[in-house]
Amino acid sequence: MNIGFSGKVVLVAGGTGGLGRDVSLAFLREGAKVVVSYRKEEEFAALKAAAGPAAPALYGQIVDITDEAAVAEFVAGVLSRHGQLDSVVNTVGGYAGGIKLWDLETRILDAMLSLNLRSGFILARAVLPAMLKQGRGSIVNVAAKAAFDHGAGAAAYAASKAAAVALIDSLAADTKGTGVRVNSILPSIIDTLPNRRAMPNADFAAWPKPQDIAQVILFLCSDMATTIHGASIPVYGNS
Ligand SMILES: NC(=O)c1ccc[n+]([C@@H]2O[C@H](COP(=O)([O-])OP(=O)(O)OC[C@H]3O[C@@H](n4cnc5c(N)ncnc54)[C@H](OP(=O)(O)O)[C@@H]3O)[C@@H](O)[C@H]2O)c1
Repeated sequence: MNIGFSGKVVLVAGGTGGLGRDVSLAFLREGAKVVVSYRKEEEFAALKAAAGPAAPALYGQIVDITDEAAVAEFVAGVLSRHGQLDSVVNTVGGYAGGIKLWDLETRILDAMLSLNLRSGFILARAVLPAMLKQGRGSIVNVAAKAAFDHGAGAAAYAASKAAAVALIDSLAADTKGTGVRVNSILPSIIDTLPNRRAMPNADFAAWPKPQDIAQVILFLCSDMATTIHGASIPVYGNS
């Protein structure tokens, strides 16, 4: 069986971010055409440089993934340029923690819901008509361990990630038998530079690397995972 993505078109929302960058590079290495949304030109330039010989297969656009009209236009552009969309990975998200609920400003709750729930909703709504028409497709939404592990100080974050998992679960029921598969993955702490800076005394070796999580996402999007639909997959490493 082949995990290769040659001839496949993959959209990675937030595709230049801490996790998204490695997801984009992993798909490129497997031969996919990769379209990323990004926010900072320098991050896209760095991704293009890291892609090396696969760079011609990388496309990118600045898009606010929480903006429904912008995402609809973005997806329409991908479909008109490539004629198909095989996989969509949503790595857009945000974190707010260490704040007791009574000190939590409502705007933080709104921001968490927007980044962690609305992004996945808007992306799924935008890509599903084409995927259903194709009779195939895979969506992976990045949630978090906090969707199930609701610790102190993270009410808005945990609630937004729990809602994101519920969204994908319900969508899995909606898409049963259509050829479109949807799954969530649940990182705990990823070994990224911002996390190392925020927790300098932590045991970094216990944290899963973005490259290792990217492999799980590739597997979920591949033909090797055709029986996996509506799953929420922990990718905690040893943390
Ligand atoms: N890092 C962790 O330890 C960890 C743990 C559990 C779950 N997760 C989840 O894993 C996913 C990826 O995390 P990460 O560490 O890779 O985060 P990240 O580095 O912040 O990557 C997210 C990317 O999405 C972009 N983005 C933010 N808001 C956006 C918007 N409205 N429209 C379009 N793009 C937007 C960010 O751009 P800017 O950089 O410009 O904001 C960034 O490029 C997130 O869903 C996160 O919640 C991460």
